[in-house]
Amino acid sequence: MKIAIGADHAGFEYKPQVVKLIEELGHEVIDFGTHSLDSTDYPSYAFLVGNAVSKHQADLGVLICGTGIGMSIAANKVKGIRAAAIQNQIAAKATREHNDANVLCVGSRTNPLEEVLEFVRIFLDTPYSNGVRHTKRVHMITEYEEE
Ligand code: RB5
Repeated sequence: MKIAIGADHAGFEYKPQVVKLIEELGHEVIDFGTHSLDSTDYPSYAFLVGNAVSKHQADLGVLICGTGIGMSIAANKVKGIRAAAIQNQIAAKATREHNDANVLCVGSRTNPLEEVLEFVRIFLDTPYSNGVRHTKRVHMITEYEEE
């Protein structure tokens, strides 16, 4: 798969390790930055990654900020994006299986690197369930978005 990744200054230090893991899992990474610890604005990266996924330049996205929350709020403004801010393994798996989430948002201030790497691994390894009840609910979100 092609995986779009973005981080702000708070997520910058985790990004190289996350990129390494994604590549070790056999995927291609499109890195939208940031590329330094200089203070920057998380919505810029959320929109870049969200648009890459929305326009099918990438299959899935990963965003890293302090908490994952700001990134998810911003990425969810991009049409077609289902971004999930998660802080544990159960949510990393469930958001793929139940929500067909296409962008994972994680936080460097909420979880240690080892946990974040495991969340990314789970997210990328877990397919959408295609369950009838889940598909109905995901379609409800898509239809609302298109109204
Ligand atoms: C940056 O200080 C911080 O606000 C940002 O990384 C993120 O946690 C926002 O949700």
